[in-house]
Amino acid sequence: MKKVCIVGASGKLGQYMVQQALDLGYEVVGVCRQKSVGKLDAFKDRITIIPGATNNPEIIKQAVAGCDGILTVLVPWGMQQYSSGTAQAVMEYAAPKARLIFSCGWHITMDGKDIYSSSFTLLIKVITWLARLIRVVDIDDQVVACRQIFASKTQWTVVRGSGLEEGESQGLPVWSRHIGDPILKSNITRRIDFALFMVSALENDKLIHEAPAIVGCKTPSAIAAETVA
Ligand SMILES: NC(=O)c1ccc[n+]([C@@H]2O[C@H](COP(=O)([O-])OP(=O)(O)OC[C@H]3O[C@@H](n4cnc5c(N)ncnc54)[C@H](OP(=O)(O)O)[C@@H]3O)[C@@H](O)[C@H]2O)c1
Repeated sequence: MKKVCIVGASGKLGQYMVQQALDLGYEVVGVCRQKSVGKLDAFKDRITIIPGATNNPEIIKQAVAGCDGILTVLVPWGMQQYSSGTAQAVMEYAAPKARLIFSCGWHITMDGKDIYSSSFTLLIKVITWLARLIRVVDIDDQVVACRQIFASKTQWTVVRGSGLEEGESQGLPVWSRHIGDPILKSNITRRIDFALFMVSALENDKLIHEAPAIVGCKTPSAIAAETVA
């Protein structure tokens, strides 16, 4: 892996991934909205920045050219298929063998075998309804985007993040195929470690066609699971 593209580079998750990708010696191309280019000032001499909407196919075509890996922050902003448009553009223009890593939340299910608590399900329903009402975010579009990814023949991994917090890295998160697994019970991950999992997945072929749900490796549920094993 030599050259990677980070789609959504200026956000919190994106900036962590930029730093970690540079630390690993990758050449980095970042895509972010024109108005957010300044957020990447700390990296401007070390990365190529392509300003533009992440669901603009022409922007993505230019950004992913020659990349071995693409890290995409999937965000369901607005009501114009931002997530699904971004995912489609990445899958269409990435090289066939490129590793594609997408971020999302636990609410995404790949095989329907996730077991959610009633409070989590209620929370997602309320957020989805409220967000659609004010037309700022369309969470269902992130669901559509992930269905498109799951159905594709690209070399994808969809990383499903738990609740997030800031703080120093605790190390690579642990993961499970299904929500409801006791290892995930703590439902918290440091955002910097979410980024670490995404970047590490680039070189981990065992994660191809997996949708790992992650949790911090130092959380009580992760430690308890380690003790049992
Ligand atoms: N937040 C959570 O609790 C949580 C939990 C689990 C999973 N996740 C997942 O983690 C990933 C990162 O989420 P995050 O919450 O941590 O946010 P984040 O990393 O700060 O990323 C937010 C992204 O959305 C972009 N954005 C913001 N407003 C926008 C708008 N109006 N139109 C278009 N793009 C806009 C930002 O770009 P600019 O820099 O241009 O603003 C940035 O790229 C997502 O895939 C999310 O599903 C989040």
